[in-house]
Amino acid sequence: MKIIDSVRELIAYRNGLNPDLKIALVPTMGALHEGHLALLKEAKQKADIVIISIFVNPLQFGQNEDLNKYPRTLEKDIQLCKSIGVDLIFTPTAEEIYPEGQENLSKVIPRKKVANCLCGKTRPNHFAGVLTIVLKLFNLIQPTQAYFGEKDFQQLTLIRLMLKDLDLNIDIIPVSIVRNSGGLALSSRNKYLTELEVSQASQIYLTLMETAENIKNKLSILEALNLAKLNLSTQGFTIDYLEARSEDNLEIVNNKNSPFRLLIAAYFGINKTRLIDNLRVFNF
Ligand code: PAJ
Repeated sequence: MKIIDSVRELIAYRNGLNPDLKIALVPTMGALHEGHLALLKEAKQKADIVIISIFVNPLQFGQNEDLNKYPRTLEKDIQLCKSIGVDLIFTPTAEEIYPEGQENLSKVIPRKKVANCLCGKTRPNHFAGVLTIVLKLFNLIQPTQAYFGEKDFQQLTLIRLMLKDLDLNIDIIPVSIVRNSGGLALSSRNKYLTELEVSQASQIYLTLMETAENIKNKLSILEALNLAKLNLSTQGFTIDYLEARSEDNLEIVNNKNSPFRLLIAAYFGINKTRLIDNLRVFNF
C-alpha cells in the first residue's frame, strides 16, 4: 500500500496506471469506522485499484463548526486501509490542496434548490465546499468509479447532479448506511457522544422506522412527521429538520404514492452533537 501526500506524486502515480484498469476513489475525511470500511470493501470487490483520500476539507466547515476538533486518527486509519487491501492513501495537507489559500478560489456552485434545504439551511457554504473538493479529487485522480455513503444523502444527491450538470463520466456507487447494533448510523462525530448517549441516540433510527410504518398504515406524511418531532423533542433531541423528500432531486413530498426518503438532522447530548440519518420509504 502506498501513502502519498503530495499532488505531484499523486499525478505521477496516476500516470503510471494502466488505462484499462477500473480505478475506484473513496473520498473521506478520515477517523475511519465500519461505515467507511463498507465503501472500501465494496470498491475492493468491484475495482482493480482502490484509492482512498483522507482529507479534512476546511472549505466545507463553517466558522463555528468543528474543523479544529474534528477527529484525526491517521495511524489507525492506515492500519485499517492496509487490512482491507487499499492500494493508495492520498492524505494531503490543506496547503497542498489549496496552495493559494481558500478565500479567492474558483468553486463549484451546487444546484441551489437542492443545496439550500435540509443541511444547507444551517450550513450555507457547506455543499459548495464539498463539491469543490470532490471535483478536485476527481480531476487529480481521474477515477472510473467513486463510492459515497447514503448516510449523507443530500451530499450524494448533489454529487450525482454535479456529474450530470458538468458532464463528468464517473460511475457513482452508493453504499447503504452502516449502523451499530442499536441502529445508530455510524459517524466520526459519534465520538462526541458519551456511551449512554450513543445508546439513547438509536431513537433517531427507531423513530424513522416508526414514522415509515405510520405513513404506510394510518397517518398522513405531515401527521407522522409531527408526531415523530414531538416524540424526539421530549427525549432531549433538538430537531433541525425532519422531512419527506423525493430521492432524485430532494423535492418535498406530500403524497405517499411513490418511494421517498425521510431525512433527519438533530442535535443531541452534552456536546450538542449534530446527528443525521435517513430512511427509504417504499412498498405501499
Ligand atoms: P466523511 O464524513 O469522512 O465520509 C466519507 C464517506 O463515508 C461519505 O461518502 C459518507 O457518506 C460515508 N459514510 C460515513 N458514514 C457512513 C455510514 N455510517 N454508512 C455508510 N457510509 C458512510 O462525507 C465526507 O467525509 C466529506 O464530505 C467528503 C465527501 C469526503 C468531502 O470532503
